[in-house]
Amino acid sequence: MIQSPTDYSLYIHIPWCVKKCPYCDFNSHEKRDNYNEEAYIDALIRDLNIEAIKVNSRILKSIFIGGGTPSLFSAQSIDKILSQVDQQLNITDDVEITLEANPGTFEAEKFTDFHQAGINRLSIGIQSFNDQHLKILGRIHNSEQAHRAINMAQDAGFERINLDVMFGLPEQTVEQAIQDIDLALGYQTGHLSHYQLTLEKNTLFYKHPPSLPVDDQIWKMQTECQKQIAKQLSQYEVSAYAAEQQQSQHNVNYWQFGDYIGIGAGAHGKLTNNNGEVFRYWKKKQPREYMNTAGNPECIGGENKVIEAELPFEFMMNALRLKSGFTLQQFTQRTRLHASTIEPTLITLIDKQLMGLNNSIYKCTDQGWNFLNNTLEHFLPSA
Ligand SMILES: C[S@@+](CC[C@H](N)C(=O)[O-])C[C@H]1O[C@@H](n2cnc3c(N)ncnc32)[C@H](O)[C@@H]1O
Ligand code: SF4
Repeated sequence: MIQSPTDYSLYIHIPWCVKKCPYCDFNSHEKRDNYNEEAYIDALIRDLNIEAIKVNSRILKSIFIGGGTPSLFSAQSIDKILSQVDQQLNITDDVEITLEANPGTFEAEKFTDFHQAGINRLSIGIQSFNDQHLKILGRIHNSEQAHRAINMAQDAGFERINLDVMFGLPEQTVEQAIQDIDLALGYQTGHLSHYQLTLEKNTLFYKHPPSLPVDDQIWKMQTECQKQIAKQLSQYEVSAYAAEQQQSQHNVNYWQFGDYIGIGAGAHGKLTNNNGEVFRYWKKKQPREYMNTAGNPECIGGENKVIEAELPFEFMMNALRLKSGFTLQQFTQRTRLHASTIEPTLITLIDKQLMGLNNSIYKCTDQGWNFLNNTLEHFLPSA
């Protein structure tokens, strides 16, 4: 799974949804706000023309079309942008192309066409199979549509499907959380993302917090669900579980601190130049502003160079999420820093039993993983 430092990924952001969910702080806007599918695809193509120059002949390993709700767009639109990507970038034969989909009927009916357009992995935002919880979450789909969407994705021929399920929902019991997981596992899709609901700033739930299960209950939900999931899938990241060969290549690239380019409103990119300097940049966030500026320098919302002192923390923030850990060689390859920069900190963390070393691989212990923020703090420049 170790990728060459010259490999990279592409993220494509689609910023609209039918309705804004009260817990969501992603860059997503209700469809009535400046929605224009054709103009947006044209903007993405102008944006791609500029990004293509930055990566030159490097090899593109994965594409992720996220949102928002990308499945709102037609298969023809997705096909149009993918054809441009194919023409302009140097793509590996086994490229992973994921599309995020919501389980509405309207979206599910397009799954076969998305597959034909070249999408080979679908990530479906199930969240829960419980109608009461779906309603509290402000979702526009119900349990029956959730089931139907998975069936339709499997019928459409997708061999790689991820289901997003959340836990720690308002008024949820441990038994209900386990039931959601059991239903998801029943489909044997090969990949599951299991997220604890968090109250994010700038959301309706943050302003008017619903009553959430207490910490003990949430801990029990997580550990009990993990036991169920372990019967079928292996955990490879804090929230991600997969069967063999089913891990998300795209997300693994992020977690291995790999490079990526981003097109679309608010999309982020991270690139390492020939001198080993790491730059982050992002596009204008508002869809209208993005569409008006795509392809011009004004489209950049901001950019910064990751200073050398922050590179260890940035690397660890990603790498320590992976159960497989990292080697010093990978650290040096990604950051171009000498291993001695982090060795004293690694020794401290091993002493504190927050990390372990085995066969040259450093990884968090269970305790280090459960208190990941504490573990990470040791790599802050101020530490
Ligand atoms: C980019 S989002 C949305 C994808 C898709 N539009 C949907 O809602 O189904 C990807 C996933 O993040 C998770 N998510 C979003 N907001 C969250 C929150 N506040 N707490 C925990 N998980 C969250 C959801 O499981 C969601 O499916
Ligand atoms: S559908 Fe997904 S992206 Fe859109 S508002 Fe809801 S959680 Fe956010």
